[in-house]
Amino acid sequence: MNLSTSYMGLALRNPLVASASPLSYTLDGVRLLADAGVGAIVLFSLFEEQLRERSARDARLIDDPAESFPEALNYFPSIAEEDGGPNSYLALLERAASAVEIPVIGSLNGVTPEGWTEYARAMQDAGAAAIELNIYYLPGTAEISGREVEQRHIDVLERVKAEVSVPVAVKLSPYFSSTAEIALRLEDAGADGLVLFNRFLQPDVDSERLALAPGVGLSTPADARLPRTWIALLRGRVKNLSLAATGSVEGRADVANYLLVGADVVMVASALLRHGAGYATVLLDGLTAWMARKGFDDVGQFRGLLAVPPEADAAAYERAGYVTAMRAANAGAFAPW
Ligand SMILES: Cc1cc2nc3c(=O)[nH]c(=O)nc-3n(C[C@H](O)[C@H](O)[C@H](O)COP(=O)(O)O)c2cc1C
Repeated sequence: MNLSTSYMGLALRNPLVASASPLSYTLDGVRLLADAGVGAIVLFSLFEEQLRERSARDARLIDDPAESFPEALNYFPSIAEEDGGPNSYLALLERAASAVEIPVIGSLNGVTPEGWTEYARAMQDAGAAAIELNIYYLPGTAEISGREVEQRHIDVLERVKAEVSVPVAVKLSPYFSSTAEIALRLEDAGADGLVLFNRFLQPDVDSERLALAPGVGLSTPADARLPRTWIALLRGRVKNLSLAATGSVEGRADVANYLLVGADVVMVASALLRHGAGYATVLLDGLTAWMARKGFDDVGQFRGLLAVPPEADAAAYERAGYVTAMRAANAGAFAPW
């Protein structure tokens, strides 16, 4: 069974990738994921806010050299021992990249084009095989136009691309007026891959405590439908862009389902958080068992089989599917009578 695949030019032993999550917080976690068989690992994100905080501290040291005298050393432990900060992130990345034989991808999470994108180069120097750029941008004011939001994505990508020679993927939100257009613009601006989709933090309401309850929930099976729809639509339209699926890979069929609509790689976080890193082996066994049952011995034989054909009018295609589904629903499937 040949599961080997290519993601942004990286040769992977299989298309299952550990998505950014706390599972990669430690070197042991990274090793467990690699031992479980994943094709690549995306480390958890380093956030723009952490990098800015770090730069501000460095600037304070330069402005006030007294801080750097031995008697002021009490200033340093907070930097040296920072948990999950830039230094420890880069140190982990470096150790992870040499400890495992699969590509380790660094994740940068930011939204403004200045003052932090140079960390992409630091990640590359530390051994990152690629950079995943998570642009988590929620325009909080009504004055920002959709075009400005899109341009922000292009600007951030271009800054990061200017820093590195390794491939760069953009982890994208699903909330664009024209997702295919921004995908193609990002491709033109030099993106090597798209990771579809970022999940926005959607705080819950705790009516007993009369408070908002933030927190990152694990995904549910229905979350896979949106990325699958867009990967199917984009597959035949992007030229050199790799497509990574992220969201709701839980059961044995989910990896195959994403590959069928055209994903180059399939990322997983929640299922590994629920069942442990070793669950990657279960997912891979599920994929090979399904391939054997269907008579495939290479992922290339079925990747994109269910993608929207490039020659199809995508809008009409989607609309036709929608109308058919709604007619079926109204004809009785969901009717209470
Ligand atoms: C606890 C937790 C932490 C996460 N941390 C990050 C992160 O640091 N950076 C990032 O880009 N995505 C992060 N994600 C999102 C995942 O990488 C993934 O894209 C998302 O959860 C959907 O995939 P899943 O359904 O397999 O969980 C996190 C998700 C979870 C559940």
